[in-house]
Amino acid sequence: MVGTFSLQTYLRRAMDPVSLTPADRLFAGLDQALRALSSRPRASRPKPVPVAPDGPLDDADRREAGALMRVNHVGEICAQALYSAQALATPDPALRRQFAQAAAEETDHLAWTAERLEELGARQSVLNPLWYLGSFGIGLVAGRLGDRASLGFMVETERQVERHLASHLERLPATDHASRAIVTQMKSDEAGHAIAAERAGGAPLPWPARMAMKLAGRIMTRTAHYL
Ligand SMILES: [Fe+2]
Ligand SMILES: [Fe+2]
Repeated sequence: MVGTFSLQTYLRRAMDPVSLTPADRLFAGLDQALRALSSRPRASRPKPVPVAPDGPLDDADRREAGALMRVNHVGEICAQALYSAQALATPDPALRRQFAQAAAEETDHLAWTAERLEELGARQSVLNPLWYLGSFGIGLVAGRLGDRASLGFMVETERQVERHLASHLERLPATDHASRAIVTQMKSDEAGHAIAAERAGGAPLPWPARMAMKLAGRIMTRTAHYL
């Protein structure tokens, strides 16, 4: 049953690749999509603690912080979709486990950014289902290109996200310590994900692919800022 096939079940079965049938993987993928889009995700780690209590945020600050955190939340929706698709696409059980574990870690980021959006009185992107679907398709294509390319895609994705988060640390209101703590922890996690994918054998991507990814990222961030 789809309803009872949780990510935890998927991860447990991923440890035992023989038991993971194509139907299992399909149901796990659907389960993960529904969890990312419709339910309140649950983090496995506590939300990062701010270095200081939030200072006063005027309306403009609050709106800007909300827009930036919406962009970051969309990034995490995309990460869920990418890694879920890449896990489905690989025939290698060890790599499937790595992608599934990466997706689980990104769930912390998804939950933290969703909670911060609520605290700021901002909404999630109305285009989330579209972001998920598009990223899932890109993840499947990356997975079809072979494991080294798929891992290389993960390396490049994480590096671009890390740079993007660094830019948000410059743009977030100086007094919004709660958002800053979340973004700082996410940036450090994404750097770790890039290193792990590189060590697992990720091949460098050709520059046209890197440029296309940058362009796609720019379209996503500009759109999600408002929508
Ligand atoms: Fe993330
Ligand atoms: Fe990541």
